[in-house]
Amino acid sequence: MAKSAAPSTPSTRSSSREIRILVIHGPNLNLLGKREPEVYGNQTLGEIDAALAVAAKAIGADAGIQVDVECFQSNHEGELIDRIQEAMGQDSGILINPGGFTHTSVALRDALVATRLPVVEIHLSNVYSRESFRQLSYVSPIALGVISGLGAQGYRFGLEALVEHLNRGA
Ligand code: DQA
Repeated sequence: MAKSAAPSTPSTRSSSREIRILVIHGPNLNLLGKREPEVYGNQTLGEIDAALAVAAKAIGADAGIQVDVECFQSNHEGELIDRIQEAMGQDSGILINPGGFTHTSVALRDALVATRLPVVEIHLSNVYSRESFRQLSYVSPIALGVISGLGAQGYRFGLEALVEHLNRGA
């Protein structure tokens, strides 16, 4: 009977594994902290990004892998698309709050699909409890999952889910 190769120990596996998550923030999210705090909370985007970097370290340490996040915000659709395209061959997954482009942008969705990377969609507010135009998302049908209405915590939950998905598929 053929002998299978000895499985690598968890420590051997972990040392070589790196997961890179691109975090994309769409238009107006640069105003967080000042913008409708009753809807979007009091945290600034800088605070959310800093918390995500800390969370990435903790999630990575728990899983025995290295998790890095890179955060990018733009108010311009083309800049968001350019950055998403750059993720190809460079990043492992995308966490995105597309802001208002969620409800309008076929081009943003096409860029996400083109990367073939797993995507988790985040919304600070519960878009399903708001105006009806927010209930259409061009991103949701191509996303691994959607987190909406859990405030800034949603980013962390999305990051955990994305890393777990990527680590499982490794
Ligand atoms: C949002 C919800 C969108 O409808 C809105 O246009 C945003 C923020 C959210 O995080 O709740 O800009 O994506």
